[in-house]
Amino acid sequence: MAKRISFVCLGNICRSPLAEGAFRRLVDDAGLSAAYEIESAGVGPWHVGEPPDPRSQQIARAHGLILDSIAQQITARDFARLDLILALDGEVADSLHNLAPTPADRAKVRLLREFDPQANPRVGRASLDVPDPYYGGPDGFEAAYQMIDRSARGLLAHLQSQPRA
Ligand code: 4NP
Repeated sequence: MAKRISFVCLGNICRSPLAEGAFRRLVDDAGLSAAYEIESAGVGPWHVGEPPDPRSQQIARAHGLILDSIAQQITARDFARLDLILALDGEVADSLHNLAPTPADRAKVRLLREFDPQANPRVGRASLDVPDPYYGGPDGFEAAYQMIDRSARGLLAHLQSQPRA
């Protein structure tokens, strides 16, 4: 059975579409498309129905990636069908913990940057955030892409090293 994975940020227009696109490309390039069902969502409703932010689309294109997600808001009902939920920052992880209907659902939530080999959790929880680039300049989007791409590689390596359920 394919593993169902969702990447979740606040609005599902800046960071999580990049994570969905980057992870899907890695999975496809590794010939593992049948093993993973990949999606993304936001914890907030503000941008539901919208394509990714043009700045995320532009950074993605610069790295050879086309983003095709349409923003959706995650709901409590989504937890049952998902196996793993990757939060793009700690605030999003807190919201997901509050939304999770059961302790088992809560345990499905992880921070994406736990899988970033360059993140250093010893310097504090915020170092595992992909900072929200929404209100900043283009540098924030490139920085977010680099963190997301490293983390996506670490995540796939981690998942592939685990025995299949
Ligand atoms: P994202 O960025 O969570 O990476 O999609 C944001 C997009 C929109 C808002 C916040 C963050 N907003 O407040 O509308």
